[in-house]
Amino acid sequence: MRIAVIAGDGIGVEVTAEAVKILRTVAEVSGRRFDCEALPWSADHYLKTGITIPGDGYQRLREFDAIFIGALGDPRVPDNRHARDILLGTRFELDLYVNYRPVRLLDDRLCPLKDRTTADVNFVVFRENTEGAYVGVGGRFKAGTTDEIAVQEEINTFKGVNRIIRHAFEYARARGLRKVCMADKSNAMVQGHALWLRLFREVAAEYPDIEPTHMYVDALAMFMVKDPGLFQVIVTNNMFGDIITDIGGALQGGLGMAASGNIHPGRTSLFEPVHGSAPPLAGKNVANPMGAMLSASLLLETLGKRDASQLIERAVEAAVKANQTTPDIGGKLGTKEVGDWVAGNIKGQG
Ligand code: NAD
Ligand code: IPM
Ligand code: MN
Repeated sequence: MRIAVIAGDGIGVEVTAEAVKILRTVAEVSGRRFDCEALPWSADHYLKTGITIPGDGYQRLREFDAIFIGALGDPRVPDNRHARDILLGTRFELDLYVNYRPVRLLDDRLCPLKDRTTADVNFVVFRENTEGAYVGVGGRFKAGTTDEIAVQEEINTFKGVNRIIRHAFEYARARGLRKVCMADKSNAMVQGHALWLRLFREVAAEYPDIEPTHMYVDALAMFMVKDPGLFQVIVTNNMFGDIITDIGGALQGGLGMAASGNIHPGRTSLFEPVHGSAPPLAGKNVANPMGAMLSASLLLETLGKRDASQLIERAVEAAVKANQTTPDIGGKLGTKEVGDWVAGNIKGQG
């Protein structure tokens, strides 16, 4: 198996090193071979060469079995151009329409909500990942003047909305889950989100075994905090999915815990922690690598290597239970030391 690894910027570099360490350990104990090939695309690389991603970059990525990204974002690139080309560009060019973001609390102690337990925080968010407000359609007129007009269109297509909603229902059915909740702002966004509501109702009718619920996203954000046990599967658009999965990160103990996959079923897909490059933490060996390691686990799960994926999940859970963690979730270890502990646990399981 060949994996492209883009460590990126800031803490992305540090957490990726631990995710790769864990992948190597899994390969070792399971007698598999994972070739991790590092690609230098990052803010540093852009500032040195003027290149965000090479002309054949997306084509090169398609030739791997999977892609892993740490994080992209650097204060020296204020317009975030390299992140848009490398991260959003790959999502769009490889048509990775499913942004899969599980929200699972691994230990009661990590939950910021009063009296909530692991039984209450266990759902997945499917974020549409190829359209919505992220497509960059629009422009600025008279930029920099007091007459400036800024237009950024939100694109919602039948194809895009239909396939992510269907994916959410298929996922629920395959796992025996009973509820799918769609979140939009169809009370205010009366054109684009009317399409979401229409397709949600049409697709739901094909899944009589699953209870469809609809919430406006503002209410959903409130209920995620007030009663997260209401949810099993949430499906929503690109921007709302971005925002609510940071809340999801907090429910799991912090952004450092949250994992994600950017998936086109059956094609080369991209895995990354939900968090960013966290410049204030960079270079200090304090970043929590668990979201990155759990993203490596999602990578293996998506490629059908379920046993290997579970080795990582169990080891991360064991580290959390034993408080062998970074300080953001209450431990005393550094990023590297957490990686070593988790690797050791995987060897012990193997
Ligand atoms: P961020 O996710 O980088 O960090 C926000 C805060 O969350 C941090 O200051 C820290 O307190 C905490 N945090 C995040 N990850 C952590 C970890 N692994 N361990 C411990 N604590 C952690 O969000 P931001 O500060 O808004 O963005 C910083 C840069 O990252 C920006 O350039 C942004 O565009 C970029 N970004 C990139 C991605 C990505 O590549 N997928 C995601 C989000 C943000
Ligand atoms: C994420 C990030 C990205 C997004 C940024 C870096 C463009 O926040 O993956 O959640 O908004 O999708
Ligand atoms: Mn985000």
